[in-house]
Amino acid sequence: MKVLIVGSGGREHAIAWSVAKSDKVDKIYCAPGNAGIEEYAECVGIGAMEFEKLVAFAKEKEIDLTIIGMDDPLVGGVVDAFEAAGLRVFGPRKNAAIIEGSKAFSKDLMKQYHIPTAAYENFTSPEAALKYLETAKMPIVLKADGLALGKGVLICNTLEEAKTGVKTIMEDKKFGDAGNTMVIEEFVTGREVSVLAFCDGKTIKCMTSAQDHKRAGDGDTGLNTGGMGTFSPSPFYTKEVEDFCEKYIYQPTMDAMAAEGRPFVGILFTGLMLTEEGPKVLEYNARFGDPEAQVVLPRMKNDIIEVIEACIDGHLDEIDLQFEDNAAVCVVLASDGYPVSYEKGYVIDGLENFKDRDGYYCFHAGTKRTEKGIVTNGGRVLGVTATGTDLKDARKNAYAATEWVKFDNKYMRHDIGKAIDEA
Ligand code: AMP
Ligand code: GLY
Repeated sequence: MKVLIVGSGGREHAIAWSVAKSDKVDKIYCAPGNAGIEEYAECVGIGAMEFEKLVAFAKEKEIDLTIIGMDDPLVGGVVDAFEAAGLRVFGPRKNAAIIEGSKAFSKDLMKQYHIPTAAYENFTSPEAALKYLETAKMPIVLKADGLALGKGVLICNTLEEAKTGVKTIMEDKKFGDAGNTMVIEEFVTGREVSVLAFCDGKTIKCMTSAQDHKRAGDGDTGLNTGGMGTFSPSPFYTKEVEDFCEKYIYQPTMDAMAAEGRPFVGILFTGLMLTEEGPKVLEYNARFGDPEAQVVLPRMKNDIIEVIEACIDGHLDEIDLQFEDNAAVCVVLASDGYPVSYEKGYVIDGLENFKDRDGYYCFHAGTKRTEKGIVTNGGRVLGVTATGTDLKDARKNAYAATEWVKFDNKYMRHDIGKAIDEA
């Protein structure tokens, strides 16, 4: 079959790698893709938000299955556009992708269906938000309602900071219309875990757990980023925690979305905080995590196409999802200055070191092929992943592999997976 993947980051590279392993697949296209994805797919110059062009391309090439990697097109209704054209596509429709597209929606859903989450209030006016803050306990968390590249969350330690935050989100509109509505949420503490799951609208099957490192600097300092590295599995996500989440979070979320007339078909990403009171949902995403996909997919034993087709056709209950009994660590190599400002266009050397090396992967995020060779083309440039017999072994392998690639302005965190030592 012919498969089209929509997106251009490390996540889509990991998806392309996984799809390429399937015996069912003869040809892969990726729109718009990147220099690494080219190894498995023919990249086409159509942007992820160009729905009409994507649909026309899928028809012309007789694509059998389109997989949407990114959040923006999903929230914008790309799945509805493909379905309206009679095309087979994997991802939630617009009315279900709202679980990621509106934090106010997802908080209200959780409240209504008694799914554990941090206490909160939604606001549509800055005056009401400021009044509420006067009596609120600090620290407190402000969240722009809509998509903001993972940067629309402000953790405020003082009332002054929180007031400035309201201005940033609701008045200065730093995150654009995403800040028309704002969630003010109780600050909770604990270990964070990302759990990705395949969903067919009724059944939800979770993949192995992972943990991201969102802040730019070592020791969780600096600004929030899209994610600077991941490890899988999380040693804190014990069988007991998993059982609790299955019972009180995952299936109730599936059932709530179905009850609301918004059946969720696609990948549901639950961001959890394991608090002293038990696991609480921090956020939902409607797609694979990036860089969570880069540690989870290399550990998956199943043929991804079989699982995706089971989701679309509504028989996910028949799939036995299985993962290797190993571990994986991904260290993101970024451009120095990310996530604020950074230079692009530097030649990347050493990519060939990953060729035919079992258990080592170099997923491209922001790269481009030019006549000089493959060059840096984004804030997050590469995701270097290695597997190992256990987390410590995987971490040692991943950091060794980060030395194989060189480019000017290379920046990475040196403490990805530090939490492993505290488990
Ligand atoms: P989100 O985009 O909602 O996952 O938020 C980004 C990051 O902000 C999360 O990964 C957490 O580290 C942090 N965060 C979000 N909500 C809370 C909260 N209620 N309490 C503490 N930290 C939070
Ligand atoms: N790594 C977090 C995300 O993909 O949203």
